[in-house]
Amino acid sequence: MRGGADHSRSGSLQGFDAQILALFRQQPTGFVSGEELSRDLGISRTAVWKHIKALRELGYQIEAIPSQGYRLVAAPDLLTAAELAAGLATIRIGRRFVCFKETASTNQVAFKLAEEGAEEGTVVVAEAQHSGKGRLGRHWQSPAGVNLYCSIIIRPPILPFNAPQLTFLTAVAVARAVEQSTTLKPRIKWPNDVLVNGRKVAGLLNEMSAETEGVNFVVLGIGVNINMRREQFPADLRHPATSLFLEGGKEVGRAIFVRALLTALDGLYDLYLNGGYAAIREEWLTRCNVTGKMVSVSFHDRTMTGVVVGVDDIGALLLELPDGRVERVLAGDVTIL
Ligand code: BTN
Repeated sequence: MRGGADHSRSGSLQGFDAQILALFRQQPTGFVSGEELSRDLGISRTAVWKHIKALRELGYQIEAIPSQGYRLVAAPDLLTAAELAAGLATIRIGRRFVCFKETASTNQVAFKLAEEGAEEGTVVVAEAQHSGKGRLGRHWQSPAGVNLYCSIIIRPPILPFNAPQLTFLTAVAVARAVEQSTTLKPRIKWPNDVLVNGRKVAGLLNEMSAETEGVNFVVLGIGVNINMRREQFPADLRHPATSLFLEGGKEVGRAIFVRALLTALDGLYDLYLNGGYAAIREEWLTRCNVTGKMVSVSFHDRTMTGVVVGVDDIGALLLELPDGRVERVLAGDVTIL
């Protein structure tokens, strides 16, 4: 892992930068004096100055006026703990952030942290991944600074066979976040793609550790193409894949997007834990682009064709075959015919 930084939401010795930003944000228009910062943080004025300098180097525009103090003028669109936690009012998701400039795969990091006992709600984020994992062993294109690559650890008290329901929950959360931060109309493609104008903007890869009698943890892996440009997609992916920027013609604030996503996820997860899977499935069905359509589903070397008539309680696709039988499909790639 390169450039890793572990930030707890409350801040630690490494978190003075985050605390300075939080103090600025409590005074959105006003100045905060060096003396106040030094007193509130319990550090010297020289140390305050060093942290201000470090923040400026990260791209924060901080004005300094001798008689008044410091004021935050603009923040860069960085996926740091300080930016992601700013104003986030979630119950479970986002209790801790682990942020990297680059890592192999956030799912891989999150899985290891979860095995080591990381708490529910831990969010692992990277600016870039060099071995991003997609479904069915594919590679997930993860260039730096333009997209979102994140993995969230949850510990739901459910039986392993119910875990596919969490993919539905996550897809609905991504769709809500897209709607909230753009004017685009996202659609969900079973089991785990989010599309805009028929092209994929987000993919989900959930990984689980479980025993027969229960789930130890689930890692919700979420990749969203936010501000990726056409030339950043490999040539063979250019048509089916897209980004929010390419579809909407406007850059989307990544930190704003992540906060919307974590908030949606937190609310849906709370609903889920309180027995609300049926409501989540209803919302998923209204957002799904395959209900009622003739599709083919391929998994390894098997392909089935039929009409999608729904999804069942555990998230399997219900496919009505030409002979009238309804087949439950648990995994595969769907193509609308
Ligand atoms: C898909 O194939 O559609 C699933 C793609 C999932 C990609 C995300 S990016 C963040 C997380 N870390 C990974 O290595 N993969 C998931």
